[in-house]
Amino acid sequence: MSFAAIPLTGDTPEQYAQLAAQADALLAGEHDRIANAANLSSLVYHALPDLNWVGFYFFDGTELVVGPFQGLPACVRIPLDRGVCGAAARTGQTQRIADVHAFPGHIACDAASRSELVIPLMHDGALLGVFDLDSPVPDRFGVEDQAGLETIAALFVRSLRADG
Ligand code: SME
Repeated sequence: MSFAAIPLTGDTPEQYAQLAAQADALLAGEHDRIANAANLSSLVYHALPDLNWVGFYFFDGTELVVGPFQGLPACVRIPLDRGVCGAAARTGQTQRIADVHAFPGHIACDAASRSELVIPLMHDGALLGVFDLDSPVPDRFGVEDQAGLETIAALFVRSLRADG
């Protein structure tokens, strides 16, 4: 199989609708968590501008452990009481951080990161992990980015189900 990235067009919601369709096609028929996280990280990293890290942390029952990603090597383990990722995992709420330097406890894996979006991943009511995006641009992620990327995250979680 070869994957040809199709440039996203139109306004932001239209672009995310196209990206979601590409993600859906990429994950179709595959339920493996590592495989789908790896391919989704690559798809999103290459489709969207101004990102320096896109990937997954998975909850091991105690803390978050880095999973498939695109970008520079990252912190391996994040306790739930630390960082933007920990906040998303602990609260179950997406963290949309315009200025990571102003976020108490932010963990700077890549010093270039200036803004961040972290989406918690819940599977059958349990914490599976988080989907994390970093940008070198301050305030990179707007509400439309959050909505579009929450849809992508939901497609990932659905793909893990036997009937997904
Ligand atoms: N900045 C994150 C750590 C993970 S990296 O961004 C890849 C945080 O504060 O949780």
